[in-house]
Amino acid sequence: MATAILLDCDPGHDDAIALLLALASPELDLLGVTTVAGNQTLEKTTANAIRVLDFVGRGDIPVAAGADRPLIREPFVAAYVHGETGLDGPDLPPPQRAPLAQHAVDFLADRIRERKGAVTLVPTGPLTNVALLLALHPDARPERIVLMGGAIAEGNVTPAAEFNIWCDPEAAARVFASGIDVTMIGLDVTHKALFGDRHKAQLEGEVGEMVRELLAFYGAFHKEAYGWDGSPIHDAVAVAHVSHPNLVETLKRGVKIDTESELSRGRTLVDLWRRARWEPNCHVGVDIDADAFLGLLVQRLNSFA
Ligand code: BDR
Ligand code: CA
Repeated sequence: MATAILLDCDPGHDDAIALLLALASPELDLLGVTTVAGNQTLEKTTANAIRVLDFVGRGDIPVAAGADRPLIREPFVAAYVHGETGLDGPDLPPPQRAPLAQHAVDFLADRIRERKGAVTLVPTGPLTNVALLLALHPDARPERIVLMGGAIAEGNVTPAAEFNIWCDPEAAARVFASGIDVTMIGLDVTHKALFGDRHKAQLEGEVGEMVRELLAFYGAFHKEAYGWDGSPIHDAVAVAHVSHPNLVETLKRGVKIDTESELSRGRTLVDLWRRARWEPNCHVGVDIDADAFLGLLVQRLNSFA
């Protein structure tokens, strides 16, 4: 039976590709998409989720908009990575529908209750909606959370922190301390699997062309900022880990979020060597079979053609 998932995202180039991967994965049953402010404003991330679904004719997938800012930090958008629209590159038409009238947090709670918790929540943006879900609907707990965020020992917004966790560290702290089965797909893993020209050349059809256009914009940032000839499709790794659990190697470790210092704001401290004897609360991604992941992504994206 397919695994029921809910995608909580902030599209975002890699969120958009993660969404396409989820739609193209027969192992997954995508119950809905919720959006959060992150890579761009809530208005734009919500429009982008709908634009991507429209593009592949999936108006049947419900979209609910959530938090328009972090719990307590000032809003911050990553236009320097994802552009002014949040999805710069392809010329996607404006959204053909409005999001649901229901708030994302209530939508998530309803879907989780309906399934008596038998849902995997896949957050690929700041964790604001997820923290609000835990606070406002304590009875609606997903059985598993597989999130993209964090890193053992690197950062992409500061030397200490990854973007999603840095944006809303207080929300992340609540999620990691929730007692739910959490898996963290961080930069340690996503930076090892770069989607480059070889993979782009294999993409087929209209969706393949659209993804190539996304990657032209997104890849220019990675070339300039990191000198890489390819882009990490961070958020798609989280989705792939749910459908194909053997692609990413994980270790169960204690993880805490730095919400105290400004210098290390949003750092995911991982008790990798168990020196601190923190209670293990998270499956931490430590390695990936990059070729297998990238091959799967190409194959699934081509299934739209
Ligand atoms: C994460 O931050 C965003 O820019 C991406 O969409 C991804 O979720 C990577 O740090
Ligand atoms: Ca994202």
